[in-house]
Amino acid sequence: MKTAITEMFGIEHPIIQGGMHYVGFAEMAAAVSNAGGLGIITALTQKSPADLANEIARCKDMTDKPIGVNLTFLPVVNAPDYPGYVKAIIEGGVSVVETAGNNPVQVLPVLKDAGIKVIHKCTAVRHALKAQSIGCDAVSVDGFECGGHPGEDDVPNMILLPRAADELEIPFVSSGGQADGRSLVASLAMGASGMNMGTRFIATKEAPVHQNVKEAIVAASELDTRLVMRPLRNTERVMTNAAVERLLEKERELGSDIKFEDIIQEVAGVYPRIMMEGEMDAGAWSCGMVAGLIHDIPTCKELIDRIMKEAEDIISNRLAGMLSGKVPA
Ligand SMILES: Cc1cc2nc3c(=O)[nH]c(=O)nc-3n(C[C@H](O)[C@H](O)[C@H](O)COP(=O)(O)O)c2cc1C
Repeated sequence: MKTAITEMFGIEHPIIQGGMHYVGFAEMAAAVSNAGGLGIITALTQKSPADLANEIARCKDMTDKPIGVNLTFLPVVNAPDYPGYVKAIIEGGVSVVETAGNNPVQVLPVLKDAGIKVIHKCTAVRHALKAQSIGCDAVSVDGFECGGHPGEDDVPNMILLPRAADELEIPFVSSGGQADGRSLVASLAMGASGMNMGTRFIATKEAPVHQNVKEAIVAASELDTRLVMRPLRNTERVMTNAAVERLLEKERELGSDIKFEDIIQEVAGVYPRIMMEGEMDAGAWSCGMVAGLIHDIPTCKELIDRIMKEAEDIISNRLAGMLSGKVPA
């Protein structure tokens, strides 16, 4: 299958693994890229630009396929060393950068001068148009279903994707709620040129996280995520657990007076404890509603091959059959 995204990124299948804190290590990205998708290392999980340079080099030892790096622009007072991370990305020979959070206007010229393609992840059509206007090559359109930060507009992909298709000139991929061949065909039908998955890729053999995390995703249904930090306008979709229910109780009690410091125990520094130690109640960790569609822990290659086979079958048999007058079972 060829799309604007497979051609732009030089990949075999139109499937991207979104940046994920404490998941997007070299092993994850290499496994996805080796399977024909685009694997992405998460820059800010690496404590310094030197660590990122090392992680990129480790990944390049494991794959000779294109890889990407996610650069998330956080709403923090003490900004990380973004110029340092950008330098590590360029010197590491990375071909794609996925930006997220604030728009990437300050790093765009230097990335583009280095010949790197930039795909900006956004949760609203107006942000996608902004990304297009500043020169991003593509966007990832992240619907309300997504694991992580869905923004504050709450527009699901069934509306957001066709809206993006109506407005954008640059290619885009769907993101949020994508899991299988049905997701891919639906995304393509709504105007996307591929799909980005987060939660689905955590439940794979190669994902370098504790087995408890993978099993929690398989055990969860589509009803098991919660939105936290809405009163702080930093909404995050997370898997529910004891810490998340405590956090939500504080949000109800404190109302609009709540401050980040009130919930620091439930959100700060919890990722290593959850992803590496498997301490599933340590705090709030991003997870999408798509958990309800995840029932197994395949290898990345098994997953991607299965998605492509299912997508091709839907297009060639189910849909083509309907057009030729065959009523599907
Ligand atoms: C555990 C986890 C951590 C994530 N961390 C980041 C991150 O650091 N930066 C980012 O841009 N997106 C992050 N995301 C969002 C994903 O890249 C992707 O957009 C999202 O998972 C798509 O929704 P899905 O989970 O329904 O597939 C994270 C998602 C998960 C599940």
